[in-house]
Amino acid sequence: DTGGYEHYLLKEIHEQPTSVERTLSGRLDERFSTAHLGGLNLDARELREIRRVKILGCGSAYYAGEMGAQLIEELARVPAHSEPASEFRYRNPVIEADTLYVAVSQSGETYDTLAAVQEIKRKGGRVLGVVNTVGSAIARECDGGIYLHAGPEVSVASTKAFTSTVVAFALLALHFGRIHDLSPADGRRIVSALQALPDQIREVLDQSEAIAELAAEYAGSAGMMFIGRVRGYPVAREGAQKLKEISYVHAEAYPASELKHGPLALISPELPTVALVPDDELLDKNLTTLGEIKARSGRVIAVAHKRPEDRLVDHCVLVPKSEPELDPLLLNIPLQLLAYHAAVALGRDVDKPRNLAKSVTVE
Ligand code: BG6
Repeated sequence: DTGGYEHYLLKEIHEQPTSVERTLSGRLDERFSTAHLGGLNLDARELREIRRVKILGCGSAYYAGEMGAQLIEELARVPAHSEPASEFRYRNPVIEADTLYVAVSQSGETYDTLAAVQEIKRKGGRVLGVVNTVGSAIARECDGGIYLHAGPEVSVASTKAFTSTVVAFALLALHFGRIHDLSPADGRRIVSALQALPDQIREVLDQSEAIAELAAEYAGSAGMMFIGRVRGYPVAREGAQKLKEISYVHAEAYPASELKHGPLALISPELPTVALVPDDELLDKNLTTLGEIKARSGRVIAVAHKRPEDRLVDHCVLVPKSEPELDPLLLNIPLQLLAYHAAVALGRDVDKPRNLAKSVTVE
């Protein structure tokens, strides 16, 4: 039942304020400015021995893992990296005792991710699961983990599970950070920012109509470029993925810093750019990139905290500011709506895009 929404996808996008609340529920500790994660099965001493974090997932789970890796590096200062589980399992991976492996899966049944977990376990590695479906194959195989509690996700393209995965990583990074050198003040900053997320997501969702108009205007483009720097780059990748999956519009994602090393040749009025422009330490760099695109007659849709000067953008979607480490989560929400409304404008089968399955349980 789509609960009055036209599609499951739209329903699931709009459920995010409450699904995020459920992911956070009972896990924030204001007194010690940290997070409690009952299912990790790792005590503080074991966590301190971890030197590296390797995150594995497929599709959107892999991109959520990229946001997770950045959160862990920023808050805990432990090197972290996300890799497609499908690639990992085929390359005879080196499994290290002081690495924490984290498998990400909404369904908990994706065969490539399960096979990666089994390979790690066979070699004696320790794996946590960040999983939505309780009791699923991946959840059962892992040594411990974090359940998303996002509720069932029906539409093939992941939205609320993606967001809850990033929230779960924020909790893990906070917990991990407070065991390392994240100060109580910084812990408090993250706790408050997490508590503020549901209302901030609502603010973004209120702009659905305006984003629908934008999507209708741009859905007929030959393709779209998505760019972001550092924290914005996984947002760009997930935004491009979502657009491809459900609207079948060709989309590329590049780090904004890489534009001049190749893809700038593609920029023309026919290939609009969606640019992630948070108000952080890289703002000036991002504004310079917008100028480079406009100078080549490119059209720019900025997703930003502050509206850039008119000469730099054609359209701007404003997003409320969180703490810089959590900004990617909110910057991603307009891109979900953009993909959804583009797919609707093009008459696509939004909830069941061609050639895709909700979870791929075969090799
Ligand atoms: C793909 C789906 O096959 O699997 C994606 O089309 C999804 O939407 C990916 O992100 C991973 O699925 P899961 O269940 O492992 O998170």
